[in-house]
Amino acid sequence: MVVAGDEICASPLFARAADVARLIWCTKRGLRDTVNEMLLYPERLMVSKYLDPLRILTGMGRRASALSMQLAKKKRREDAKVALSRFALRPLNVNIGCGGQPFKDWLNLDLDSEAKADIIWNVTDGLPFASGACAFIYCEHFLEHLAIEDGVRFLAECHRSLQERGVVRIGMPSAQEIVRHYFESDWANQPWLEKYGFTWIKTRAEYINVCFREWGHQWLYDVEELQRRLREAGFTQIEIVKWGESRHFELRNRETRIETLLICEATK
Ligand SMILES: C[S@@+](CC[C@H](N)C(=O)[O-])C[C@H]1O[C@@H](n2cnc3c(N)ncnc32)[C@H](O)[C@@H]1O
Repeated sequence: MVVAGDEICASPLFARAADVARLIWCTKRGLRDTVNEMLLYPERLMVSKYLDPLRILTGMGRRASALSMQLAKKKRREDAKVALSRFALRPLNVNIGCGGQPFKDWLNLDLDSEAKADIIWNVTDGLPFASGACAFIYCEHFLEHLAIEDGVRFLAECHRSLQERGVVRIGMPSAQEIVRHYFESDWANQPWLEKYGFTWIKTRAEYINVCFREWGHQWLYDVEELQRRLREAGFTQIEIVKWGESRHFELRNRETRIETLLICEATK
């Protein structure tokens, strides 16, 4: 049943009024900060840049965008809580950065609202699970999309979220394989170049730059680097595994990409 209060909240007029209220709030804070700064550092008044309207506007703009990010984060947190409470299976099996490849009966998470995810979430905000809540965590072609500091934080969050003997499986492109191909005469004959329409690449340099920079790649790994970063995140039991193969039934036949050439499982 819709009550009168709900109707008001859902109305476009209410949304507009809320926007105006937010704008006034930001303007007030922007002005207050500027006045505070002038009171704290009166000598700066001599150089009148603090009264520059452009500067005041920029400050307001920054506050407004920080506020809208805060609100988006708050909404993601609330939505995640609801999605988690509706998900019946425990302990959780979680597919992170699922994109268009969700797993049935797993909790699928992605930052992109267009992804087929149960939870829209940015892992740079941590993972929205209680400590020890997950049995298995999986991600394919995901970790290399995070800057290295965020990547290690993410792995540490996996460690925290896993139950004892829980396992995270990570599949990704292999920096070692990419570089090996660079030195081979048939470097241009790799199936994934054709699969993703990258046959336009003309030189080895173009090839290697694409591998390291395209698709938002931030940091590529080889075995040594992945093991090192997993250790930094708290894992001690780390095993390099083959495509589709696992000692754990839940983690078998999960890879979907032929170019997933570096795969490992780390156990808590
Ligand atoms: C290359 S796609 C891989 C999708 C899928 N795993 C696959 O193999 O087809 C990387 C996915 O990670 C997601 N992603 C990137 N950064 C993220 C972040 N900080 N938090 C959550 N998801 C993120 C992207 O939205 C994208 O769906």
